[in-house]
Amino acid sequence: MTAPIIRQLAELRAKHSDWIRAGERVAVVPTMGALHAGHLSLVDAAKAACDRVIVTIFVNPKQFNNPEDLANYPRTEHEDAIKLAPYDVDVIYVPDPEQIYPDGFASTVSVTGVADQMEGASRPGHFDGVATVVAKLFLQTGAHQAFFGEKDYQQLLVVRRMARDLDIPIEVVGCPTVREASGLAMSSRNMRLSAEGVSKAGALYPILTSLAGELSAGGAFADLKQQSEVAILAAGFDELEYLSLCSAEDLSATELAREPARLFVAAWIEGVRLIDNIAV
Ligand code: PAF
Repeated sequence: MTAPIIRQLAELRAKHSDWIRAGERVAVVPTMGALHAGHLSLVDAAKAACDRVIVTIFVNPKQFNNPEDLANYPRTEHEDAIKLAPYDVDVIYVPDPEQIYPDGFASTVSVTGVADQMEGASRPGHFDGVATVVAKLFLQTGAHQAFFGEKDYQQLLVVRRMARDLDIPIEVVGCPTVREASGLAMSSRNMRLSAEGVSKAGALYPILTSLAGELSAGGAFADLKQQSEVAILAAGFDELEYLSLCSAEDLSATELAREPARLFVAAWIEGVRLIDNIAV
């Protein structure tokens, strides 16, 4: 059976009060819909950790710096509810837009530091939009734990920082990236690629993995970076936005793979911007 879809905050709060009175722990899995196996792995983790699970679906206009990207973002609520049915979640919260951004809404949550580089630099305003909507979703759902994929590793750190800084009593849990057999990270954006594009994009992960191996063996990023950039373009990507090696803790740039570090990439193929990252 599909879970109840709630669109009004008051109705969500009524359910939440019953759960808290019963001493139950609540998880939230924030999404923008177009659910895939990556999202479903977060739901699995949430179910294992808490008594009640809320999946939120809200395509957040404030985090799109490109209007075309917002217009093209897949909206698949009915299919999403069907995909969630076997997981027996307690609520699918699909807030009406005015539940998130009521008339006159004038506040922005802005995180500095971990939000400044990579996605923050390439997509001005993106993380302000993410931090603002996620702060609202944390406060509206009153969840004890929230589950995010490491595929958006920078987002995970931004959200964790925001919750700590604002004293929102929630634990932000990061879950491993789920990949296709080729290694391509699952993403709602993959739906916009042709079969050929998907196959070409599958080259990204082996290139990252091989670079990570060379870094772990003591190679310097400055010496190895260019050959990976060439390989990414030769695989069929049209443009490489960044390939960076950063501290996994604060995302400061690093040259040698001192633990813990991660490799991050953003590249364009068939007009679609893909991101990925792996631990080194
Ligand atoms: O990762 C996403 O899908 C979105 O950025 C999130 C966290 C649901 C906020 O809109």
